[in-house]
Amino acid sequence: MKTITFENGDKMPMLGLGTWKSAPGEVYQAVLWALEAGYRHIDCAAVYKNEKEVGDALQKAFQDGLVKREEVFVTSKLWNNAHEEDQVQVGFKQTLADLQLDYLDLYLIHWPVSLKSHVMFPEKGADFLTYKDVPLSVTWKGMENLKKEGKVRHIGVSNFNSSKIREIMDSCQIKPEMNQIELHPYLPQEKLLAFCKEHQINVTAYSPLGSADRPSARKKDSDPVLMQEEAVRKIAERHGKTEAQILIAWSLHRDVAVIPKSVNKERIEQNLEAADVRLEDSDVRAISGLSTSHRYIDGTFFTEVPGSPYEQADLWETDS
Ligand code: A2P
Repeated sequence: MKTITFENGDKMPMLGLGTWKSAPGEVYQAVLWALEAGYRHIDCAAVYKNEKEVGDALQKAFQDGLVKREEVFVTSKLWNNAHEEDQVQVGFKQTLADLQLDYLDLYLIHWPVSLKSHVMFPEKGADFLTYKDVPLSVTWKGMENLKKEGKVRHIGVSNFNSSKIREIMDSCQIKPEMNQIELHPYLPQEKLLAFCKEHQINVTAYSPLGSADRPSARKKDSDPVLMQEEAVRKIAERHGKTEAQILIAWSLHRDVAVIPKSVNKERIEQNLEAADVRLEDSDVRAISGLSTSHRYIDGTFFTEVPGSPYEQADLWETDS
């Protein structure tokens, strides 16, 4: 399994289990199947509302001797309504309690968007109550405190474009070590990847399979279906692999960590086996031809709300 090596020598397996959209009632078993199959990286977030159950599964795995804590790389994310410096501690403590851990391997600011503490998502009609302007440098200070206190081993961001990362880097003591972003062949993120590489920031791809199970509020009729692309199907056929395995292998080939979500035992195992798929240059070229800059998770749920101070340009690169 390919790994990312952080500056202090810590390693993160580049293929992990995603838990966004994994329902309570399903995610416990999914995490255990994943650990049994050999996954050693689990991606979580407070807003997924399933961290308690992920924590139960981790505890079970530790108690049964399946894995030791230090053998599993666990990531979580700070939600948008806890961006004040002292609230970072509060959000983090809740996640740590839910996951039943005493440290996290990686903690990320989930979005460069701040909401008032009682608001989970912007609500139509409550526009002027919804947004609270907390500079990212303030939130980042809270993240740095967690790292200095030894509660998290690494800190980073998610859904950040290069100018938002710069905003942090202009005033930080500890630079972001990770940016987790939507990334798949429709949205290869060339420009942002180059920026992150230049600044030694690692990248993790979310929605690598096109997130077909995303909530209906995040779907548009015009959304193309990544898993049904002919180019991917042909390559899969030639390698005797599945489309999902090819899409995962494509991220790994580009040295991007990848966190496919599944709650199905066979698919969890199948996705891990993608680590052994070696793509040829011609495969990579054919897959790159699918690039359309299409985003499944476009962030309009933050920007297209009456009274929102955020615009699409606050979130995304203009030419990714
Ligand atoms: P399931 O959880 O039932 O396996 P993404 O990681 O891009 O968010 O995509 C997750 C979606 O892809 C889920 O609907 C998940 O369903 C499905 N999925 C995960 N792995 C595979 C696979 N190997 N083949 C087909 N679908 C998959």
